[in-house]
Amino acid sequence: MVQLIRLRALLVAAALLLPMFAVQAAEIDNVALSNEADGRDWPAYGRSFSEQRFSPLDQINRQNVSRLKLAWTLDLDDVWNVSTAPVEVDGVIYFAAGYSVVHAVDVRSGRLLWKYDPHVAGKKMRMAWGSRGIAYWKGRLYTGVQDGRLFALDAKTGQLVWETQTTEPGDNRYITGAPRVFNGKVLIGHGGADFGHVRGYVTAYDAETGQQDWRFYIVPGNPADGFENQAMEIAAKTWSGQWWKFGGGGTAWNAMTYDPELNRVYIGTGNGSPWNHKLRSPGGGDNLFLCSIVALDADTGEYLWHYQTTPGESWDFNSTMDIVLATVEIDGKPRKLLMHAPKNGFFYVIDRETGKLISAEKFGKVTWADHIDMSSGRPVENPGVRYEDGEALIWPGSAGVHNWQPMSFSPDTGLVYIPAHELPGYYNDEGRDPKTWTMVPNDVLGLKGFFDDVPKSAGSSSLLAWDPVHQKKAWVYATPGATNGGVLSTHGGLVFQGDADGNFKAHDANTGEVLWSASMGVGTQAPPITYSVDGKQYVSVLAGWAGGQMLLGSLSAQHGWTGRDHPRRLLTYVLDGTATLPPSAPPSIVKPIDDASVELDPQRVAKGRELYSQCVICHGVSAVAGGFAPDLRASPIPLSSPAFKAIVQAGGLEARGMPKFDELSDQDLDALRQYIRERARYTPSFWDQVRTAWNFIALTIKMKWLQLTG
Ligand code: HEC
Repeated sequence: MVQLIRLRALLVAAALLLPMFAVQAAEIDNVALSNEADGRDWPAYGRSFSEQRFSPLDQINRQNVSRLKLAWTLDLDDVWNVSTAPVEVDGVIYFAAGYSVVHAVDVRSGRLLWKYDPHVAGKKMRMAWGSRGIAYWKGRLYTGVQDGRLFALDAKTGQLVWETQTTEPGDNRYITGAPRVFNGKVLIGHGGADFGHVRGYVTAYDAETGQQDWRFYIVPGNPADGFENQAMEIAAKTWSGQWWKFGGGGTAWNAMTYDPELNRVYIGTGNGSPWNHKLRSPGGGDNLFLCSIVALDADTGEYLWHYQTTPGESWDFNSTMDIVLATVEIDGKPRKLLMHAPKNGFFYVIDRETGKLISAEKFGKVTWADHIDMSSGRPVENPGVRYEDGEALIWPGSAGVHNWQPMSFSPDTGLVYIPAHELPGYYNDEGRDPKTWTMVPNDVLGLKGFFDDVPKSAGSSSLLAWDPVHQKKAWVYATPGATNGGVLSTHGGLVFQGDADGNFKAHDANTGEVLWSASMGVGTQAPPITYSVDGKQYVSVLAGWAGGQMLLGSLSAQHGWTGRDHPRRLLTYVLDGTATLPPSAPPSIVKPIDDASVELDPQRVAKGRELYSQCVICHGVSAVAGGFAPDLRASPIPLSSPAFKAIVQAGGLEARGMPKFDELSDQDLDALRQYIRERARYTPSFWDQVRTAWNFIALTIKMKWLQLTG
């Protein structure tokens, strides 16, 4: 009894003392997310509402960055995707990995605090990407899920608060992008326009309850059903034929930037469904609001203005790349700007009050258009690029000069740091006719499929420092391969980026000089973040070879990473850190196995090749895996019919990220096995290589000739 009383007295004393020691928990709301000057936390996808991915912290700087060392690492057992931007609040890092499994990790110890699994595995998810970011708002986390759900968790406990389905169950929509929270609303879009019938939209939900607030459709539906609003009615005038039959596309799967000064959101919209404009909208037309920035009233979702970067898109030129806000002096006047570097290769500076284009210049190799006409704001396309009459070879291709890996703007240097890429695109619709064409699983895009291997030399990448006011390059640093990581810049004069060879680097923001580099043990595309806990500045980055753009055969495989053999991990650095990198396998290149006893039947091989279009996204073009999913040419599984059936048809590896294809027949599986054997045996002869090189040169000359002769 006495002991109990003593215990109670102790508890009371502790409760009284506690507030003296307790650090005020950060309230993450509109005020905090509008505060560009406070760099302690990294509470949102792009850190603050401006999405500059710039941190005002400077404890780690040009002078001392050489002392940056590992504080700790955390290896993850989740499947595939870790290409996500974490958030950090009050000394805890949150991120979603694999099948949108949310993790909370203590910064001080590197220990996992909790995990929340929304149980997506087994829902026939056939896309190769997971979450690219999550949101934090007033003590809760908001996460989109591959299967189209959006949920809220208590950030302290990881308990589910609410969950809602933002899509129709079983449709082609999926979520990879980070939700954005503002004014007590959670905004989410989705992807899916490359997978079949999809009509894109964004939806705002009440952050407290999960109740739907407003929804904005990006492309018009069937006029016979009536239009949701006037914007859809206007948009419908820019479409022709029966576009709604294929959904039209326009999915907003990434960029949605909230503007606290004007209480608006800017939505970056996606490509058409199908890609081929001629099949999607046979009578032509711009096809609003595909490949655009659309400004909406943040309270009502009402349309305010739009700027279309690629009218009548036909190349997968999404404008879903990040949208960055800044106030910058132009001609002596401070201007409220929006900066955007979409796939199509032009860097756009737009007045965000009016939506008026201020300037647009090429920031990489671009041949599909000559320039942007400043009076109309429209691209001046080069002849032949629409592949109406056959093949076209253009720069860039569908990978874009810039993709989802976010860029960063430093108000200190006035420069934008872009993860830039160079890779041409080959387009050929092989004479598909809008009168007879219809969308089927093996032909969703309406053009020749991705069947050929992409050689190592086909593409390149760089970290590009771009001056947005003068629209010119400040410096460029070549990065390995054709893809690279998202970017972070800091008041310490540094620019951080992870690369495909598995190195994490800090550059001098003024010159690009590499001031620091550390091995992560595996390549990454994920963007780093920085924040401060107990007065110490940390830098964190996720690493792992996954997250889209791993399908490009030999081009992706050159780095030597394979999903199974190499780690997925969270790395955290601090000045004078003392942790060491856990050992992992060195990079290696897989060797196909040829089973000489298998006889190839050209007809079955051809059928298998067609079916393989459903495997390309994960197992790589021409069955040359980029390292994300196993290389099927080197796998023993396809050599055995029962083993192949158990995995492909019965879903034996579903929990590991290999979807079930239970609609495939035994004959289909046999055809796929034939195709895989044919690929395993294939080595291009000298003459094959000459022919490929010649085709490339001939097509380049043809495009140039068309351009010169008009
Ligand atoms: C969404 C991505 C995705 C798609 C689409 C996909 N796979 Fe897979 N596949 C994977 C992953 C990931 C693994 C490895 C899982 C693991 O780690 O065990 C895998 C494993 C396999 C394996 C086992 C290989 C081995 O060595 O263990 C086979 C066989 C296979 N896939 C065949 C196919 C075929 C055939 C198709 C198309 C009909 C296909 N996959 C489509 C992701 C995918």
